[in-house]
Amino acid sequence: MGHGGRKALRFAIGAVLTSAALCATGARAASDPDAVTYRRHIMKTMGEQAAALGMVLQQKGPAENAVLHARMIALTAKTALKAFEAEALGGEARAEIWRNWPDFAKRLSVLSESAEELAVTGARDGLSAMQAKVMNVLSCKPCHDTYTLRQGR
Ligand code: HEC
Repeated sequence: MGHGGRKALRFAIGAVLTSAALCATGARAASDPDAVTYRRHIMKTMGEQAAALGMVLQQKGPAENAVLHARMIALTAKTALKAFEAEALGGEARAEIWRNWPDFAKRLSVLSESAEELAVTGARDGLSAMQAKVMNVLSCKPCHDTYTLRQGR
């Protein structure tokens, strides 16, 4: 990270600490734009981790990281569950998320559990076992088709 990046990060952390101090009531009190920005950071993480895992499984990245990527996807799905709790329209999210909250939440839990299982498989049986399993496990598109404006991805 360059000097500018470090400065930006310090600023971001400063801003977060300030608003935390002003508002002790927690995540639900976040303004809507904050809630949207926050969950989009999480979903971008999801996209990056899935892409990195995909590269590793195609042997374009270090095999040693495969299990870690699967675990990070599991953790990211957990953080997403909390991030979407705040009902905030915006980004590419559709209002159906909060109308059908139990279904939406279930999909994230299932994703988290299957990614965790994928990590266990990888740790026990190696990369090729993960390759065989990954497509069944990492289901992203059905949820996007149902709950976002980003169809077909
Ligand atoms: C339970 C539903 C659900 C699942 C499962 C899901 N997503 Fe998403 N995803 C969403 C929603 C909703 C948004 C839109 C969020 C917003 O714009 O506020 C989104 C947005 C995204 C974005 C765009 C982020 C941005 O703002 O630029 C990426 C990338 C992404 N998801 C990747 C993935 C990947 C990869 C998977 C599978 C490993 C996945 N998602 C699984 C619901 C889901």
